[in-house]
Amino acid sequence: MRAAKKRVRGIEVAYEERGRGSAIVLLHGFPFNRSMWRDQMEALSVKHRVIAPDLRGHGETPVTGSATMEEMAEDVAVLMDSLDIERAVIGGLSMGGYVAFAFTRLHPERVRALVLADTRAQADTEEARRNREAMANRALQEGMEAIAEAQMPKLLVPKTLREEPEKVARVREMIVGTNPEGAAAALRGMKARRDQSDLLPRLNVPTLIIVGSEDQLTPPTDAEIMHHEIRGSRLEIIKGTGHISNVECPEEFNHAFVSFLDTIEP
Ligand code: MLT
Repeated sequence: MRAAKKRVRGIEVAYEERGRGSAIVLLHGFPFNRSMWRDQMEALSVKHRVIAPDLRGHGETPVTGSATMEEMAEDVAVLMDSLDIERAVIGGLSMGGYVAFAFTRLHPERVRALVLADTRAQADTEEARRNREAMANRALQEGMEAIAEAQMPKLLVPKTLREEPEKVARVREMIVGTNPEGAAAALRGMKARRDQSDLLPRLNVPTLIIVGSEDQLTPPTDAEIMHHEIRGSRLEIIKGTGHISNVECPEEFNHAFVSFLDTIEP
């Protein structure tokens, strides 16, 4: 679907919008773009107004300089202002989850509920920070093909890699379509991100946590920590699925999301 664009904080933010009703904002992971939410846009827009932006440096949204989680979160807040959305269900997968945490810390009153998919609250370890910097340099020097090569086996389970060429191609295309400067800026943004663990016991909005049972990058143990710390949260573990659970198992992911929304409807 063609993107709409809004000028937000000095950049043209591309986004897609579908449906009517209370708002849901979906924040994609790294190094992907809004198209990763294709199946969710379709399912959730039956009863809701769903907005999926390309976060700065990804998809059709450029980056100028840095791309911290807070900058991405502020872009989302200003985009919501420009669309007359005061409060929304904020859903983020992986890096999108880091942005959802940053958004919640900056604008708690604008969060109606949270969906945290294949993500974690902790900051990077020292080793992870070194790997981020190496990957940022690799993206800039060798391009996104090299990043796709290295990342694909960590993103999808072997069965999907073997048997589902359409999904493999979709994920690959998102990665190689990402601007290397955008990827490097996001990697440095993730490397610098703060630990959000202290936020978890203070959250007082309905929260759904989703994770693929085979997620290697943000494994179920991270989801269980969030579930333990966030009062009243729900945890859905999708069996046989890796890191991009919404692309790999859209039916199960959508079912978990829609059932959660049903519990928070007025
Ligand atoms: C993502 O999918 O957004 C990334 O894998 C997140 C990360 O590397 O921490």
